[in-house]
Amino acid sequence: MAHRIWKRFSLTSLPSWETDMVTIKSEREIALMREAGRILAETHERLREYVAAGITTGEIDRKGEEIIRSYGCVPSFLGYEGYPASICVSVNDEVVHGIPDKKRHLEEGDIVSLDAGVIYKGYQSDAARTWPVGAVSQEAAKLIRVTEECFYEGIRYARSGNHLNDICSHIGDYAVSFGYGVVYDLVGHGIGSEMHEDPEIPNFRMNRKGILLKPGMTLAIEPMINMGRPDVCWTDDGWTVVTDDGSLSAHYENTVLITDGDPEILSL
Ligand code: MF3
Ligand code: CO
Repeated sequence: MAHRIWKRFSLTSLPSWETDMVTIKSEREIALMREAGRILAETHERLREYVAAGITTGEIDRKGEEIIRSYGCVPSFLGYEGYPASICVSVNDEVVHGIPDKKRHLEEGDIVSLDAGVIYKGYQSDAARTWPVGAVSQEAAKLIRVTEECFYEGIRYARSGNHLNDICSHIGDYAVSFGYGVVYDLVGHGIGSEMHEDPEIPNFRMNRKGILLKPGMTLAIEPMINMGRPDVCWTDDGWTVVTDDGSLSAHYENTVLITDGDPEILSL
């Protein structure tokens, strides 16, 4: 289980929010997560330089692991639930968790999502970016831009005193206003000493408020947006999630700290 799969409402599956155990990080923990986030942000900036037609997704993973280790960090994805690489590299209709492949070359016009996580002195940061490979179609460029904007629409509400659904609903409503499909089978999550902590953070509006946000909460907020239908399925490698209808998908994620003022984006 990677991003945990959030179960939609039914008589037998209640949302977990009533029982969520959301940790409040101490100043010491926040300092470590800040450093983890800074390193992860730099990792993404450096990895971006390698994204070009011709490179293999396996090479991107190898570079990513090398960069992460050069900071004395551990790639959190490697070996997580058996995941075989350090970076998730998801191309075009792949939504998330694409497994890097030494024989798979990026091509001009592709879009590629890179998702990475680092552990620094026991604390985690998780972030994803979607990049164009060379010149891409206007539609693809717009999907990338709007997915990033979804994140920013959401974190406008990532403030102490608001509820989780304020974030979720604004992410989802923004994507839907462009006619895009919001992936509902995968969600964001709390993060700290574990990559996946409570709460689960859907990217769409719900009929309840969700937890009350408080200073010291750290959240991985990660819109996953499809150009077409929201439905996704898992391929037979057991990891790669693709859109059902074959449409393009983009992913943008940062680790965010709730404060008593503006949210702090730790992985930028
Ligand atoms: N960013 C992804 C997540 O939030 C990373 C998990 S991929 C895995 O779940 F490889 F680590 F499983
Ligand atoms: Co994540």
